[in-house]
Amino acid sequence: MDLIEAIAGRRAVREYTHEIVDEKTIHRLIDAAVRAPSAVNRQPWTFTIVRDQVVLDRISREAKSHMLATMPLNTQSDHFRPLLTDPNFQIFYHAPVLILISADSAGSWNVEDCALAAENLMLAAYAAGLGSCWIGFAQSFLNSSTGKNMLGIPAAWVPVAPIIVGHPKAPPPPVTRKAPKVRWID
Ligand SMILES: Cc1cc2nc3c(=O)[nH]c(=O)nc-3n(C[C@H](O)[C@H](O)[C@H](O)COP(=O)(O)O)c2cc1C
Repeated sequence: MDLIEAIAGRRAVREYTHEIVDEKTIHRLIDAAVRAPSAVNRQPWTFTIVRDQVVLDRISREAKSHMLATMPLNTQSDHFRPLLTDPNFQIFYHAPVLILISADSAGSWNVEDCALAAENLMLAAYAAGLGSCWIGFAQSFLNSSTGKNMLGIPAAWVPVAPIIVGHPKAPPPPVTRKAPKVRWID
């Protein structure tokens, strides 16, 4: 697939079939992720693959409670509250797999490095006919000691990018982009 076509075509997918994503495919996505650039070529990324739906349900419940208890009161939290209090809302949209990209330490550019790996992974997923979505709702819980313990993640690691992957039920609608704010200094 042409790169620009992949960049333009990738969408956040929130409806998946029950079809599993096999190990070979997951390794292919990780191979693409680790081609990302990283500061001082540190490659701080680690990958935790979660396919156990009972674990994903549990993380979803805990992450929702954690967000409701910790998010500051503002218009954004007003927007999220109905969703987070809905017992039928699963933050991972019942996707067959979660790939959590964490940094192996709290270094200066680790978040940037892991986010670049995450975009490569999402583009590779799209090129393979799969859907993906970054689940920010999971981040603050997964960064807590309870969250790390739930996945056996070492205390020093920093979860950055929880990415769900699966077979899309239907192509998601196009999402518009704002006109970029560009300044030229000639
Ligand atoms: C850091 C980050 C966090 C996100 N968190 C969530 C999330 O918790 N739940 C969700 O449904 N989508 C989440 N998204 C997906 C965005 O809503 C989506 O990328 C955006 O609406 C643009 O749509 P597109 O990806 O289809 O272009 C997140 C995206 C990013 C980059």
